Amino acid sequence: MIIAVDGPMASGKGTIAKALAAHLSLPHLDTGSLYRATGVAVLDAGVSPEDHTACAALARDLDVSAIDEARIRTAQAGAMASKIAAIPAVRDALFEVQRAFATQPGGAILDGRDIGTVICPDADVKLFVTADPETRARRRWAELTASGETLSFDAMLEQTRERDRRDAGRSDAPMRPADDAILLDTSSLSIDAAVATAIRIVEKRQKA
Ligand code: CDP
Repeated sequence: MIIAVDGPMASGKGTIAKALAAHLSLPHLDTGSLYRATGVAVLDAGVSPEDHTACAALARDLDVSAIDEARIRTAQAGAMASKIAAIPAVRDALFEVQRAFATQPGGAILDGRDIGTVICPDADVKLFVTADPETRARRRWAELTASGETLSFDAMLEQTRERDRRDAGRSDAPMRPADDAILLDTSSLSIDAAVATAIRIVEKRQKA
């Protein structure tokens, strides 16, 4: 059982993927953390995101067992992740670790942008989780301000739109629903309702 959960920033895909993983006792990989950790490595090394060779080398050298959760969650790490995620050699460098996770015996749940289209086109269930940009910006703004970052809501909304444009507009593995993905709009759903809907979708697929 491979489950792919894709969607834009703060759509709820991570929360849903985590809850599905707990419900089904499946291992879960947040693939955004790989791009975020590479983004942090790029920032630490003082490398330009224009230097594709250097960014790809940092992605290849990434120690996935030593990702600093606190550091990768900042707005700066997210913005850099989205820039370096557009580099094909970076995506190539991170492909194998994702594919190996997905194909482990017993199955897995992965969330990201291109799981249903590129990493696991063979997934048994594909969800594409969305929400309108204002709702997503409000959610992420609340998270970031709670963790001590200071930024205005308007700046957050602009970052949300910019990230959507970049993630959906890149030529390599753009964010888009797979043809066989089921869309789940969480704009007016509570976390519990979104998770319950996702569980229903998966259980229906399992029965079919
Ligand atoms: O948590 P949030 O929704 O902000 O994003 P994330 O899942 O942590 O991903 C951060 C960035 O990594 C995204 O904006 C994408 O540019 C990139 N990413 C990607 O290109 N492909 C993936 N499978 C996952 C993330």
